[in-house]
Amino acid sequence: MASTPTSHLICIVSAVVLLIATTTSAHNVTAILEGFPEYSDFNHYLSVTKLADDINSHQTVTVLALTNPEMSSLTKHPLSVIKKVLSLHILLDYYDPKKLHQISDGTTLTTTLYQTTGNAPGNLGFVNITDVKGGKVCFGSAAPGSKLDSTYTKPIKQIPYNFSILEISQPIIAPGILTAPAPTASDVDIIAVLNKAGCKTFAGLLSSSGVLKTYLSAMKDGLTIFAPNDEAFKAVGVPDLTTLSNAELVSLLEYHAVPDYSPFGSLKLAQHPISTLATNGAGKYDFSVKTAGDSVTLNTGVDESRVASTVVDATPLVIFTVDSLLLPSEIFGTAPSPAPAGEAPSPTPNVSPSPSPEADAPSPVEVPAESPSDAADTQSDNGAGNVKATALLTLTLLTLSVILS
Ligand SMILES: *[C@@H]1O[C@H](CO)[C@@H](O)[C@H](O)[C@H]1NC(C)=O
Ligand SMILES: *[C@@H]1O[C@H](CO)[C@@H](O)[C@H](O)[C@H]1NC(C)=O
Ligand SMILES: *[C@@H]1O[C@H](CO)[C@@H](O)[C@H](O)[C@H]1NC(C)=O
Repeated sequence: MASTPTSHLICIVSAVVLLIATTTSAHNVTAILEGFPEYSDFNHYLSVTKLADDINSHQTVTVLALTNPEMSSLTKHPLSVIKKVLSLHILLDYYDPKKLHQISDGTTLTTTLYQTTGNAPGNLGFVNITDVKGGKVCFGSAAPGSKLDSTYTKPIKQIPYNFSILEISQPIIAPGILTAPAPTASDVDIIAVLNKAGCKTFAGLLSSSGVLKTYLSAMKDGLTIFAPNDEAFKAVGVPDLTTLSNAELVSLLEYHAVPDYSPFGSLKLAQHPISTLATNGAGKYDFSVKTAGDSVTLNTGVDESRVASTVVDATPLVIFTVDSLLLPSEIFGTAPSPAPAGEAPSPTPNVSPSPSPEADAPSPVEVPAESPSDAADTQSDNGAGNVKATALLTLTLLTLSVILS
């Protein structure tokens, strides 16, 4: 099956679609701000909170930048608080100096990235922009009782009409944002959070297997957990986990966490296979990420799982729920004798995550039956959710004809 021209064609097409779809980010806020040392602290915190990835994954965005002296009042707070405050400085609309001075009726509320986190009740996630007498433009939280005490000072970079960086005089602080209990990673009780999020089975396995300890010790350097919900364990076709050896169960659970802080915006931009806590060699126990619009799917080579929701984002810990168990090919692949983790070298993963079209060709391993229809799904998903799908497809076909000629 793997060797039929049609399945190769589909593999190549989907690889190229993925490649193009994940590299269309038009702006790189980190690279732009690197040219301006006066915002180096602001830039640094955009990177460590991964807000830079969020900014880069939004087509239309305005960043309200703070100079290093203005950042100093924020940096004494926990990272999770800094992330909340900075996400209020990322407007999901395009404002250049001209547009700032031409706001209709002189005042407007604009949505920020903070609003999209789901943790901003009322108007907390909006920023009020108001033109005042003398041509001054003021910014403040849209929450009642807030002061408009930050002002526009100068333009930094504009890419009309999608991307803009403006300097403002001081941080925009929403009421309570500095003091509201923002869980820091070490405060988060992973088991309690998972139980509450409908992931009791997964939580139970983490505790009973002892893998929770591995999670906790990895957490300080960044940890992203993909927790299957309870339904996922009951789904049709889920392998019987009681037949796994201890070592396999440990690897399976470690496979559900990534030793890096990777919130949703970063996950969406992932261009390479992602290593997990179970990874014990190059290309082992990793999975690839497929993005279609706002939907992110993880592909293990054996199955696919949709990222359902963010349960906790407490820099540097993030916990997602996923719709299905992530089944690593090292345990559940079509290998003749599945070896426990750490023993005999594992066979090549079934589906090569490499974007190189040649990579599939020499592989002796059969591509699972679902692959071609998955590839077809990808394209129709793109077609439904992405206005640029047609353009992408055209590009793909062009690329394809070049490859094949
Ligand atoms: C953005 O720029 C930074 C600094 O130049 C670089 O390290 C990073 O890889 C770039 N990100 C992307 C997605 O190109
Ligand atoms: C923005 O804030 C000012 C001052 O509090 C207020 O008068 C104005 O109505 C607000 N703008 C909007 C659109 O709510
Ligand atoms: C700006 O965004 C629009 C869609 O909102 C897109 O079609 C266009 O290519 C973008 N332009 C640039 C320069 O990124």
